[in-house]
Amino acid sequence: MISYDNGYFRLETDHTGYYFRVTKFLHLESIYYGERLIDKDLEPLSVKHTVIIGTQTAYDPSDPMYALDTYPLEWSGIGKGDYRHSPSEIEMPDETYTNDFRYVSHRIVRGNLKPSTLPCSYGSEDECETLEITLTDEPTQVTLLMYYTVYPAQDVITRRVSLCNHNEKTLVIRKLMSMMIDLPNRDYQFITLHGGWIREARRQVSAIDYGLRVNESLTGCSSNRHNPGFLLAASGATETSGMVFGFNLIYSGNHYSAVEKSERDLIRVMSGIHPQCFAWPLHHEEVFETPEVVMTVSCEGFGGTSDHFHNFVREHITRGDWKDQERPVLFNSWEARSFHFNESSLLSLARQAKRLGMELFVLDDGWFGDRDDDTRGLGDYTVNLRKLPGGLPRLAERLKKIGLRFGLWFEPEMVNPNSDLFRAHPEYAVRIPGREPSMGRNQLTLDLTNPDVREYIISHVSDVLDSCDISYVKWDMNRNMSDMYSPTLYRQGTFGHRYILGLYEVLTRIFVPRPKILLETCASGGNRFDLGMLCFSPQIWVSDNTDPAERLDMQGNLSLLYPLSSMGAHVSSAPHQQTLRDTTLVSRFNTASFGSLGYELDLSFVSRAEKQEIKEQVRFYKEHRTTFQYGRFYRHDPHKDNKVHWSVVSQDKEEAIVGFFQTRSFPAEGIDHLPISGLDPEKTYQVRTRPQRVYVRRFGELINFLLPVRIHPRGFVARLIDRWYRMYDAVETYSGSGRLLMSGIPLYNAFSGTYFNDKTRLLLDFGSNLYTVRTMEHPVPTEKE
Ligand code: GLA
Repeated sequence: MISYDNGYFRLETDHTGYYFRVTKFLHLESIYYGERLIDKDLEPLSVKHTVIIGTQTAYDPSDPMYALDTYPLEWSGIGKGDYRHSPSEIEMPDETYTNDFRYVSHRIVRGNLKPSTLPCSYGSEDECETLEITLTDEPTQVTLLMYYTVYPAQDVITRRVSLCNHNEKTLVIRKLMSMMIDLPNRDYQFITLHGGWIREARRQVSAIDYGLRVNESLTGCSSNRHNPGFLLAASGATETSGMVFGFNLIYSGNHYSAVEKSERDLIRVMSGIHPQCFAWPLHHEEVFETPEVVMTVSCEGFGGTSDHFHNFVREHITRGDWKDQERPVLFNSWEARSFHFNESSLLSLARQAKRLGMELFVLDDGWFGDRDDDTRGLGDYTVNLRKLPGGLPRLAERLKKIGLRFGLWFEPEMVNPNSDLFRAHPEYAVRIPGREPSMGRNQLTLDLTNPDVREYIISHVSDVLDSCDISYVKWDMNRNMSDMYSPTLYRQGTFGHRYILGLYEVLTRIFVPRPKILLETCASGGNRFDLGMLCFSPQIWVSDNTDPAERLDMQGNLSLLYPLSSMGAHVSSAPHQQTLRDTTLVSRFNTASFGSLGYELDLSFVSRAEKQEIKEQVRFYKEHRTTFQYGRFYRHDPHKDNKVHWSVVSQDKEEAIVGFFQTRSFPAEGIDHLPISGLDPEKTYQVRTRPQRVYVRRFGELINFLLPVRIHPRGFVARLIDRWYRMYDAVETYSGSGRLLMSGIPLYNAFSGTYFNDKTRLLLDFGSNLYTVRTMEHPVPTEKE
């Protein structure tokens, strides 16, 4: 995995190689990151220095050619002639900003050397190996420890640094990134996920030009504006070809990643904690640890890079009892009842959910304190006996009798000023003396840098969790930070990071002793979807927007960095509460099934026919849940602008599910192909459309051309037909070798306005189909699901 050979550090995974060396003045020079190489001598790949550039600053008078500005580096300081952005800005003990960390020694150890203050990746001594390099700024005796951990099977290398002050005088860290690398310029595109509330994870592709491009968050959390993960893709990269680098930070607070194209055409990449308002004093012999960055590269396009990330997150980030377990199909009360419920309305929903096959009932916001709307009660985790007179234990007991597990919502990091907690402890809320605090969703943030506040949260949440049988927690966080200040801090520049450290401590102390609880984190939807949270919660709520047309974008884009099992995906009612767009129940399911499935709608408004449909969906999902949650996921390059294709293949390649999604329907469209990937080319498989119910009301007045009698298209008879008569969309069945099927099957024609029979595919706007693929030993059942 790691060796120091012939002057080169060689970090090798199954398919990738990462090489660098120590220069004659003891800096670390990046040589190569890409497909694994067999060569012993990597000199041909080094950047050459054969002229002196007029304005260059020579590092040492003995060698005018040695200018740091012209070297690709693994780390760079300030003040010694590298004029690119530095990964650190430190007020050094000598009160200057100059730092020059140079190689002293290294050691290679099996396993991962974990930081003591932050969540990080994990792996056994057989699964990973770590290189620790010690660099020192000699005049000040400040030491930088650089860590590289290699995970060969997932083709991942992680990096982080720690700073240690051996000087008697205090230094102040104003910026300290977790990693830096200089790559050769290959005309990369910078791919980031930007967004906002109910429009999370939009893919942004930017060219890398001279200067700096930044992907950052300043909201106090990793944010829905810019996910901390990003890619650098060679131009022209597709889902299956081209070089794509991926980087992601294991951190949930303000993050900063920058890509700089320098004057010498090198691409500097760095990632870490955001430096804005950051000032961390480091006293004699103190150490500061930065969060870990996960890096990977693939020459098999975006799909290759995503696959590395998916395997890595599943194996070396997600932990605890739920790591490999199938996630339950849940029912969540929020969109159905919001704050307005009582025990009997909840139990009525629960009974219906159980009849449809769901396994877990999640009581969302509104169960505690005086919380009848979002202006009050947050912070008071005593049950509201007006709504739940028997308390949580009786509700849990009754749900158990129905046959459902019980899950509960909390928002423990927040407080409403109109709450008993705030009245008793106004000093627990984050605000600045002498300033009116700014509000977000009528609430203030609790000061998690304060140990008393952490104790309060831990004891109150733990008491509730131990009061009855709770199998799942939704941990929400619904405002961005403002008025950052804590009276307990010596330097306010530590606030943002200390808050996140406080959050990690609270999560550890509540959930590590309760490993049976499945934790799903949430932040107004996907305002904190990051690897830091995934170290605690195996799944995260993607977005408050459950419209499948939007989810296709969000889930598809998040899948660049995160596995399907990590994405909470629900079927809700339509028109959707966030877009007022009307979509079919089947498309809502088809999209949500590529994730950890739930339902979130008032089941009493669901027709009998739709209930039957939901029952079939849940049964289908459970049957294929391991494949959906833990299979190998493919996004297929669409062959048309109005299509999205996903598929997921079981690890043993025995089955696959293909999702065929249409965004906008085009009239009289040409042939559609079904893309399939990842099958065993030699095995024989059968492919079959999952039968989907069609409602006659979708045909409008056209229905009168199909029926022998004339009816009102929205009248009583049409409704009666929809209720009692089951009509199915075209079902196609094919069989052949994996090789044949993977070459793309032309499908039946889609509805084109003039003709309809049982071989017409009815996709329409935002329509979709699922196709089940199974080996002939276990063929797809032929009866209607
Ligand atoms: C946030 C969450 C929602 C729901 C509400 C409850 O908006 O994202 O899913 O839990 O809070 O107030």
